[in-house]
Amino acid sequence: MVKESIFRTKKARPLKADLHLHTAEDPLDRIRYTAKELISKASAEGFDVISITNHHRMTFNQDLLSYAQERGVLLVPGIEMTIQRRHVLVLNPPPYQKCADFFSLSKLRRPETLIIAPHPYFPGTYSLNGYLLKNLGLFDALEYCHFYSPMINFNQRAVEVSKSFGFPLVGNSDAHFLSQLGTTFSLIDAEKNLESVFAAIRQNKVKVATRPLKHLEMGTIANRFIRMKLRAKISKPKLKQYLRFRKRQVIS
Ligand SMILES: [Fe+2]
Repeated sequence: MVKESIFRTKKARPLKADLHLHTAEDPLDRIRYTAKELISKASAEGFDVISITNHHRMTFNQDLLSYAQERGVLLVPGIEMTIQRRHVLVLNPPPYQKCADFFSLSKLRRPETLIIAPHPYFPGTYSLNGYLLKNLGLFDALEYCHFYSPMINFNQRAVEVSKSFGFPLVGNSDAHFLSQLGTTFSLIDAEKNLESVFAAIRQNKVKVATRPLKHLEMGTIANRFIRMKLRAKISKPKLKQYLRFRKRQVIS
């Protein structure tokens, strides 16, 4: 007699994903690991899907795509754009699009592109804050960012907005250091391809897997981040690159 359980379809495990990551190819920040080093680390930590979202520049090509594929990772093209001085994550953007303001951002909306509000209520002029509710219809998901502790959590308002409007919440690290990877991520009920992942996020088939940072850990990350920003400021080649990209923010 064959047991019934043999005929049950085994439920696929959710995909482990982080859709907000920076690498050494970022023109704005001074990061110590390359895209390939990040992909290798993500693969070793069991990630299924990642997106490298460097500032103002896509870090995505056939070589990186193949490198990720060989390690079982789906690499999603992505960019962290600055729109009206606020950061916005655009995954798989259409080619050759300028995006100077939120009206232009509306033109990027299509099923094959996913737009995420990163760390929307974190302190700092680059966070969306009031621009989020004014432009909520432009976004597909809000980010729950890894940088928080049990006492200090700037994600709370994003959680409230997510609950109030039934908006998907994705867990991301916004990693600038490899140690940040894996502290907060998403678990997505999808197949491992771009269409399925985007559709699942839009349908809210995504959970945030997260742990608060210890205060010492938070302090260390903040300290390293400030030092990294200072190094980036005094780095002339990086600064030149940034000024060039700020003048002509073009997705290619
Ligand atoms: Fe970022």
